[in-house]
Amino acid sequence: MNLLVTGGAGFIGNNFIRYWLNKYPKDKILNFDKLTYAGHISSTRDFSQNNNYEFIKGDVCDAKAVDEAVKKTDTIVHFAAESHVDRSILDPLVFVHTNVMGTQVLLEAAVKYKINRFHHVSTDEVFGELKLGTNKKFNETTQYDPKSPYSASKAASDHLVRAYGKTYSLPITISNCSNNYGPFQDPEKFIPRAVTNLIDGKSVPIYGDGKYTRDWLYVEDHVRAIETILTKGKAGETYLIGGLTEDINNLEVVRMILKILNINGSYIKYVKDRAAHDRRYAVDWRKIHSKLKWKPMYGFDTWLEKTVEWYKNNEWWWRPLKKKAEVFYRNTEK
Ligand SMILES: NC(=O)c1ccc[n+]([C@@H]2O[C@H](COP(=O)([O-])OP(=O)(O)OC[C@H]3O[C@@H](n4cnc5c(N)ncnc54)[C@H](O)[C@@H]3O)[C@@H](O)[C@H]2O)c1
Repeated sequence: MNLLVTGGAGFIGNNFIRYWLNKYPKDKILNFDKLTYAGHISSTRDFSQNNNYEFIKGDVCDAKAVDEAVKKTDTIVHFAAESHVDRSILDPLVFVHTNVMGTQVLLEAAVKYKINRFHHVSTDEVFGELKLGTNKKFNETTQYDPKSPYSASKAASDHLVRAYGKTYSLPITISNCSNNYGPFQDPEKFIPRAVTNLIDGKSVPIYGDGKYTRDWLYVEDHVRAIETILTKGKAGETYLIGGLTEDINNLEVVRMILKILNINGSYIKYVKDRAAHDRRYAVDWRKIHSKLKWKPMYGFDTWLEKTVEWYKNNEWWWRPLKKKAEVFYRNTEK
């Protein structure tokens, strides 16, 4: 395959590229990334010299640059997006621009060059929220009901991708997954922020009452799910991807990290809640399991331990990013 990976300097994108280059050494990967505040060239350090890897600094909204990149490839895996809900509340326009317009620009080029597969990486947040204390889960037939500018922009991009599949017969697939965690996630996101704060002996800010529940998905499990969809999935289909977490809320996640780090004490600081904060997400991933035989490799305990270990051993990567993340929160968390 000749893959165009957008947003490959971001968290999930760089994990995907590393995995793919190792597993498919004959394939070529072109990483197309604007290197926004969320894109880190340091995350590509270990594979940047690989002969089958190329990096282009570019904006998915720039039709000319996108055309040049798509021309050279046969498969697109589209990760590039503005991805932080808190930032979308402060500055929604850039989310619409990148997530909606950028996706449309890529789709146009994909049609023009008759791309073999356009895989769109999306989120379960497009479905809105579930109530606490129920067993309900999102599945492929759940109605869209986004609540934040981020999830609304991702929902719009999903609709565009499906429309291009139907209107122009573009072979698309979409995956909607739950919250990811693992190596190379920016310390502005919840789990790496908690881990790095605790490594530094600082408390962990928790929104509202802390009873926000996510279906945590380890990034490598997610990457394998995308691989499964690219190699075995059917064009036109959507697949939901989730973890092996049974309703764990943010307070419990912090307690687990404290235990892994062997720290006594609560180290929790409650801060003002996020506007329109979704209570609970849970993903029913039976479709990808039954049709394509994918499932997460391990449970949350095992992967969380591995994640904490990675942050303990890779300060070179997160230290320079930590300061910037904390400046962002200093201005928003009162
Ligand atoms: N992280 C999660 O928990 C999660 C969960 C569900 C879905 N997703 C989706 O997965 C994808 C990747 O998420 P992530 O966590 O790796 O995001 P991220 O914020 O870590 O990385 C995004 C990358 O996209 C690049 N980018 C942003 N705007 C761009 C533009 N205009 N042109 C080119 N590149 C641009 C950034 O430089 C960065 O490298 C996103 O589409 C996101 O919506 C993420």
